[in-house]
Amino acid sequence: SSPGPGSSADSGLFEVPIRRTCPFDPPPGLAGLRAAEPVTRRVMPLDGTELWLVTSHDLVRRMLADPRWSSSVDGGLSPEQPLHMAEPEPGMFISMDAPEHARYRRMLTAHFTVQRMNRLRPRIEQIVAERLDAMERLPRPVDLVAEFALPIPSLVICELLGMPYEDRAEFQEAARTVVDMTTPPEQADAALARLGAHLAKLIAAKREEPDDALIGELIREGVLTDGELVHISILLLLAGHETTANMLGLGTLLLLHHPDQLALVREGAPGAADELLRYLSIVDLVIFRGAKEDLTLGGQEIEAGQFGLASLAAANRDPALCEDPDRLDVTRPKTAHVALGFGPHQCLGQNLARLELEIAFQALLRRFPGLRAAVPLEEVRVRENAAIHGLHSLPVTW
Ligand code: HEM
Repeated sequence: SSPGPGSSADSGLFEVPIRRTCPFDPPPGLAGLRAAEPVTRRVMPLDGTELWLVTSHDLVRRMLADPRWSSSVDGGLSPEQPLHMAEPEPGMFISMDAPEHARYRRMLTAHFTVQRMNRLRPRIEQIVAERLDAMERLPRPVDLVAEFALPIPSLVICELLGMPYEDRAEFQEAARTVVDMTTPPEQADAALARLGAHLAKLIAAKREEPDDALIGELIREGVLTDGELVHISILLLLAGHETTANMLGLGTLLLLHHPDQLALVREGAPGAADELLRYLSIVDLVIFRGAKEDLTLGGQEIEAGQFGLASLAAANRDPALCEDPDRLDVTRPKTAHVALGFGPHQCLGQNLARLELEIAFQALLRRFPGLRAAVPLEEVRVRENAAIHGLHSLPVTW
């Protein structure tokens, strides 16, 4: 039984610190928890759900690699609770466990290799160059989020799926509605339904005439049903769009505050995308798992049916992960950061994400060597209460 909002004091629990005070850093309080009690019983301030909060790099990885922690977090929650999920739709493998999850991953992994993603490189470069051309024609200041960060990933996913350009505005709007944690459930459901109908039409067209983009190839392989293809496409849209967009927006702002690092990124520092991913950890405090059986983690006894929440940001700033973790250093040796998750659900689109970030940051900084924010940091509009950290807008000039 979960306590209601505000009852954490009565139950002897403390709230998960979820608010960032600096848009680049994990919420203050997580570092202290990581040092003192890296697996700790807390409540979610949104609804009072009790859970285990995991904050150290080692224990976050152990949890995410452990099949006793389920990604299908439906058990035990009432439908009113935000964590509640209905039975996942066929193809929504992010919410499934082995063996169903593994079946989908096996089918999809071959389509997301570095080599396969590199085939998209020329198209991504062209998409990025076109956005930069469009920015140059606009009166300054220009909103980098609206003109650059948001359109690029959505255009790239259209390209990946083989979705016509004309359809992108509709799915972008629907995707934003769905991932916004403040969207009322009915509106989120309606937006999902719009996406589904739209994709069903696209899949029907590809069945007639399969091309060599992802949906066409999956259709040719002949294993997946239309329903599965719809939900796999929705998953790719939702997982790949807001994440990459927020990395581009927030990442640019971060680089503008670190001119030495910005110069290195412009010159093509090879590990820059991963360091920016690690440092910003834009996906944080939304990675839930449910214990399928009694287990211990970090010396804590966890009971079957209890929930765990992994803080990827706290793990990525763990001094056990790398030297001086609170310093941004795009030249640092490769780290085992968890910004893209870990274990069986580790980001399917990670090679695409790295490629997009690398191409987009370099092209932006080369096109506008004098790029700067047009407002002070305190005035930049940060997304509050969003599942993914980032910016509403970023006025820039050059
Ligand atoms: C999973 C982060 C870009 C597709 C994940 C997970 C994280 C993540 C943390 C793990 C979720 C979990 O364990 O429950 C990111 C970040 C990105 C990014 C930070 C951008 C910079 C993309 C892109 C795509 C994508 C571009 C696809 C086009 C997916 C899919 C999953 C996933 C399908 C589910 C994998 C599974 O359950 O097996 N991502 N992602 N992501 N991501 Fe990404």
